[in-house]
Amino acid sequence: MNLSVQLAPKNQHGLLLANPVMTASGTFGYGTEYSHIFDIQKLGAIVCKATTLEPRDGNPQPRLAETPSGVLNSIGLQNIGVNALIKEKAPLWASWQVPVIANIAGETIDEYANIASKLDGVAGISAVEVNISCPNVKAGGAEFGANPKSAAEVTAAVRAAISMPVLVKLTPNTGDIVKVAIAVAEAGADAISLINTLKGMVIDIAKRRPLLGSITGGLSGPAIKPVALCMVYEVAGAVELPLIGCGGINTASDAIEFIIAGASAIQVGTASFANPRAPLDVLDGIEQFMEKEGIDNLTELIGVARY
Ligand code: SIN
Repeated sequence: MNLSVQLAPKNQHGLLLANPVMTASGTFGYGTEYSHIFDIQKLGAIVCKATTLEPRDGNPQPRLAETPSGVLNSIGLQNIGVNALIKEKAPLWASWQVPVIANIAGETIDEYANIASKLDGVAGISAVEVNISCPNVKAGGAEFGANPKSAAEVTAAVRAAISMPVLVKLTPNTGDIVKVAIAVAEAGADAISLINTLKGMVIDIAKRRPLLGSITGGLSGPAIKPVALCMVYEVAGAVELPLIGCGGINTASDAIEFIIAGASAIQVGTASFANPRAPLDVLDGIEQFMEKEGIDNLTELIGVARY
């Protein structure tokens, strides 16, 4: 069986994955945290926690709340900064078989381009995923992803700064995600990841106050799966680029739904918190499904719900 997928067919470097199972940024650390739990080299790709120009401590606690069928987070892009990422993490990734994709976030368009150019050509980093979708920061993040014009400006700036593949991660917190996807595609993205978290909140009724330290957060987990699936389906009908489906994928059957809706690859995120082996379980389940259904090549499944 052939599970490989090419996520950057028009890029000079390409981004060939051995299989479609990726980890979602922010749920798998730098990959190293999970390497003692299962053979992470079996995955299609690892997307690391978002990287900013300078290190960040993130938002005030509490930063996590469980909700019905989901999790609300307001981490605030806590990370070690791009220079430490290049010095401390990339050399290890360079010895890995699994491609590592650096998720990047900035407060200004120049900052996105600056981070991307520092990463371009660094051994151990196969692509960048441009995060214009984090709902937990005062500047940048989802602010850029909420409208087609600013989403395109960030994409074009990163595209101009680097030669490696550019993935762009979209926010559902926008009026029309299809318009944002079209704008990002026209601005030079190689692939589109969707969706990041949905903005939400929880109130502590004893304290009569918002539970999260930064009041609002981003909702992920099974609660958002139908929303994410619908957005993948609609974007697949509007852009030619490879799509990476993300949002509430817990099982192989969830992943296959996204592939049938139009995703070439998928990201397992929140599921890893309850079951650290979830990405591998999803991969095993996809293989079993293909075997049972007599599917030789995964590409036979991509987007078939639309035909
Ligand atoms: C966070 O760090 O607040 C979450 C990251 C994201 O939503 O992209």
